[in-house]
Amino acid sequence: MSEHIERTFVALKPDTVKRGISGKIIDIFEQAGFKVVGMKMVQADEEILKEHYSEHVDKDFYSRLEEYMSSGPIIAMVLEGVNTVENVRKIVGETDPKAADPATIRGKFAHMSFDHADGSGRLHKNIIHASAEKDEAEEEINIWFNEEELHSFESAQEEFVR
Ligand code: PPS
Repeated sequence: MSEHIERTFVALKPDTVKRGISGKIIDIFEQAGFKVVGMKMVQADEEILKEHYSEHVDKDFYSRLEEYMSSGPIIAMVLEGVNTVENVRKIVGETDPKAADPATIRGKFAHMSFDHADGSGRLHKNIIHASAEKDEAEEEINIWFNEEELHSFESAQEEFVR
């Protein structure tokens, strides 16, 4: 496999599942040619969230982040393609939907802001999580998926997008 072919971890957060916009978001990744090689619906518990957000557990906002991420099921996915970590983050957009370009997923489907959430005690709902770095992607894939849940197959699009 070329060194440019990577896998990344993506989670469609509970607000996305409850709003019924998961399909629209999966469609964006599929249209861009990313291959879904793992996908499942999960009710995240305290333990897995502490592992996933290990670098943030001591931050002031962590309890709100945990409350949000466990407020309903998420859709966990592994996407594969060319420079997937960087490309998926570009498509997802800035972490704070208020700052996200309107052409990105967060800009298109939300307008929440950290200031508003923190100032009003609301949850900062930002639709989606995507791994920030290659190492982080590997760690997060291992937290959420085991080997048998990840699939290798040739997609119809590979001839055109790789
Ligand atoms: S990033 O995308 O990792 O660079 O973003 P970062 O700013 O480091 O934030 C890490 C995750 O913490 C969430 N976060 C918050 N949640 C609730 N309230 C506040 N104030 C807050 N600040 C940061 C942010 O949404 C990131 O979650 P993920 O799931 O990675 O998007």
